[in-house]
Amino acid sequence: MRRLHAAKGDMSMGRFESKRVLVTGAAAGIGRAVATAFAAEGARLVLADINEGGLAEVAAGIEGAEILTYDAGKPGDSARMGAEAARDGLDVVANVAGIYRRAHFTETTPEDWALILQINLTSIAEICRVTLPALIESRGCLVNTASTAGIGGIAYAAPYASAKGGVITLTKSLASEFAHRGVRVNAVAPGRVATGIARGLPPVEGAKDGLSIHPVKLEGFEMGAPPELLAGAYLWLASPEAGFVTGEVQLVDGGALSG
Ligand SMILES: NC(=O)c1ccc[n+]([C@@H]2O[C@H](COP(=O)([O-])OP(=O)(O)OC[C@H]3O[C@@H](n4cnc5c(N)ncnc54)[C@H](O)[C@@H]3O)[C@@H](O)[C@H]2O)c1
Repeated sequence: MRRLHAAKGDMSMGRFESKRVLVTGAAAGIGRAVATAFAAEGARLVLADINEGGLAEVAAGIEGAEILTYDAGKPGDSARMGAEAARDGLDVVANVAGIYRRAHFTETTPEDWALILQINLTSIAEICRVTLPALIESRGCLVNTASTAGIGGIAYAAPYASAKGGVITLTKSLASEFAHRGVRVNAVAPGRVATGIARGLPPVEGAKDGLSIHPVKLEGFEMGAPPELLAGAYLWLASPEAGFVTGEVQLVDGGALSG
C-alpha cells in the first residue's frame, strides 16, 4: 500500500465541501465517475484501487487527492487500506471496487468462489468494519455497490450474484445496527453499465439465452449506461438531502428489473 499526493485540478463549491470521501475502485469505470463527481462538489478524495497507474491518472485531475493501493483479493489488505484512510477521519465511504467472472456453475472451482466472494463481499465488509468508528465520529455514511444480479440472480455468474446479494443484506444489517449512532448505510444496485468489467472475458460455451438475464429496457441504453449516469445516485445517498434514507438499495438499471 502506498500513499501519493496528486497534482492539480479543479475544485468548486458543492454539497461535499470539506468532506473527506474514500472511493474504492476509483481507477476506472463507476468508481472513477463517482470520485470525479464527489471532487466536483468540493470533497477531499481518498482514491483506492489495485491499479496504481489508473489511480494516478484519476488523481491528476483532482486537487489534493490521496491514493491508496490495495488488493481486495488479498485477505487483510482491505482492512489495512481502510484503516489507513480512516486515520485522518472520513465522512463518506463509497465501496465500488469489484470484479465479474462467468462460467457454468458446475465448472466453478472453490478458488473462483473464494476469490469472487473475497473481492465483492468480504473486502467491503472489512472496509465497513474499520471505517465505521471514523464514520460514527463524523456522523457520516457508507454507500456500497450491489447489482441487479444481487436481487434477481444471474445465470453463469452465481458467485458474483451471491456476493452482491450479500452486499445488500450487509448494507441493511449495518444500517439497522448503526442507525442509533447516526451513520447511514445504503447501496446502489446498477444494471448494465458500459465499463471494462467484462472486457476480455471468454464467452461461456453453450450458454443458453445469452448472458444477461436482465436486459436494459430504457431506449438508447441497451448496451449499458455511461458510468457517469451512476454517480448521481451515490452522491445523493451520501448527501444531506438523503438524511432520512438508510438501509436502502437504489436500483439504477434502466428499467431492467421493472415489470
Ligand atoms: N458494469 C456493470 O454493468 C455493473 C453492473 C452492476 C454492478 N456493477 C458493480 O459496479 C462496481 C464497479 O464496476 P465497474 O463496472 O466500474 O468495473 P471496472 O472494471 O470498470 O472497475 C472496477 C474497479 O475495481 C478495481 N478492482 C478490481 N479488482 C480489485 C482488487 N482486487 N483490489 C482493488 N481494486 C480492484 C479495478 O482495478 C477497477 O478500477 C463493481 O462492484 C461491479 O460489480 C457493475
